[in-house]
Amino acid sequence: MDSLRTAVVTGATSGIGREVALQLAELGWRVIAIGRDREALAELSRRSERLVPHAADLLTDEIEELIPARVDALVPAAGISPSTGVEETTPGEWERVFALNVTAGAALARHALPALRAARGTIVFVNSGAGTAARPRNTPYAASKHALRALANGLRVEEEGHGVRVSTVYPGPTDTPMFDGDVDRAALIRPASVAAAVVMAITASDDVQLTDIHVRPRRELSW
Ligand SMILES: NC(=O)c1ccc[n+]([C@@H]2O[C@H](COP(=O)([O-])OP(=O)(O)OC[C@H]3O[C@@H](n4cnc5c(N)ncnc54)[C@H](OP(=O)(O)O)[C@@H]3O)[C@@H](O)[C@H]2O)c1
Repeated sequence: MDSLRTAVVTGATSGIGREVALQLAELGWRVIAIGRDREALAELSRRSERLVPHAADLLTDEIEELIPARVDALVPAAGISPSTGVEETTPGEWERVFALNVTAGAALARHALPALRAARGTIVFVNSGAGTAARPRNTPYAASKHALRALANGLRVEEEGHGVRVSTVYPGPTDTPMFDGDVDRAALIRPASVAAAVVMAITASDDVQLTDIHVRPRRELSW
């Protein structure tokens, strides 16, 4: 089998996922970097030959084809965050946010499990502060992230006999294109700081799993 430790990272074209991909490549990992934005993928692959771009839309493409033979880490970081409440959210929009934020991660995990078990690997779900506390401004997003927390916690128990670790990182407001809140952007978390927490979960000592890591801005913000 390929001797390079291999990670599959979604959302690798922007923000937190991109930083995870860069940091793992810097540590010598091969990274299957997934996203739709081909230009961003090309730019990423120029940074390191260990960054292997794979253009895919997680809502329409075949998930199984994204998983290589060796997988030591899986990081579902792709997500969407519609700023809508229940009153204006259509059933189609509910389906879309759950399909990307929950179902795609579950499908990736499902197809990667045999390789992850063989590698005694780690899954790190990128959740959100909205995964534990719902605020009125984006209830469908918060509902999807609550579901993602349940997915991670359930999968961890399912996998306890198989050697796969399951972690969740809960970022607070982070300076990426996704965050459009009306706050001083200098007060936001840097995406590289969230990525460092993801990498910490992946590289944790073999005898432990870091189940839940909350990453909050140094000066607390009400987001
Ligand atoms: N920013 C924050 O304040 C914040 C806070 C808490 C949690 N989070 C979570 O952190 C994760 C990363 O978010 P971010 O802030 O880094 O956002 P971002 O910069 O907007 O990145 C979102 C990523 O999702 C990918 N994506 C979106 N739709 C996709 C699709 N249909 N198929 C494949 N990939 C798709 C995008 O890639 P393409 O456009 O190339 O497809 C992009 O790489 C998300 O799960 C988000 O919920 C963010």
